[in-house]
Amino acid sequence: MPMTTSNAFGIDFGGTGIKGAPVDLAIGRFSQERVRIKTPDKSTPNNVAAVFVDLLAAFPDNTGPVGVTVPGVVSHGVVQTAANIDRDWIGTDADTLFTRATGREVHVVNDADAAGLAEVRYGAARDVKGLVIVTTLGTGIGSAMIHNGVLIPNSELGHLEIDGHDAEKRAANSAREREELSWKDWARRLQRYYSAVEKLFTPDLIVVGGGVSKQAAEFLPLLRLRTRIVPAELRNNAGAIGAALYATER
Ligand code: BGC
Repeated sequence: MPMTTSNAFGIDFGGTGIKGAPVDLAIGRFSQERVRIKTPDKSTPNNVAAVFVDLLAAFPDNTGPVGVTVPGVVSHGVVQTAANIDRDWIGTDADTLFTRATGREVHVVNDADAAGLAEVRYGAARDVKGLVIVTTLGTGIGSAMIHNGVLIPNSELGHLEIDGHDAEKRAANSAREREELSWKDWARRLQRYYSAVEKLFTPDLIVVGGGVSKQAAEFLPLLRLRTRIVPAELRNNAGAIGAALYATER
């Protein structure tokens, strides 16, 4: 086993896959190749907990704290909303459920908050002073607000009401795919969205994550904003890495 400076473990729980690996927090990278297990068709808390047990069993040498991303509001370990996941999650004390199921110290964190923590510590927002807003463009729009390195959790800026619509329903990457929008048409919606974010919060930097951020060259240059806006650097691994960081710093 390679020497690592931490023994933390990160799990990214998404709609299609559950991915996890040990994380080296000194450098913000996986220290072993990650394992991916398909998300159960019915992704209830108990079914997902059973997958975590299998996932952790694949890394018997890892014993540290486990961080888990959840695509919803998480307050003190309890999941409060479930916009794009099974509604059974609402009200679930996920920290307690997963800690009991796995026998490990588990902490859950909103998926975008986790990605934001990772981008600020290791990625596109490293060393940026002031307010950083990290958005993830995927099935929904996730957001993280981090001021001078400190996370203000559950900002939920994907649900800003813009032109009478829940913003993520029109501007998430899933809307681009569903409506087969050109990059230009999608960028128009993103312009409305990021202009509103900029007007409300005056951030020092906006970071754009989510799978589509690898095609940032297609849409970011079309946006006209006062704020610097850049693609995420950790891409698909940001959630799991940020979750491991979050769990370790509890
Ligand atoms: C949820 C957020 C989540 C985002 C990205 C939204 O619908 O409300 O909690 O961070 O999707 O998954």
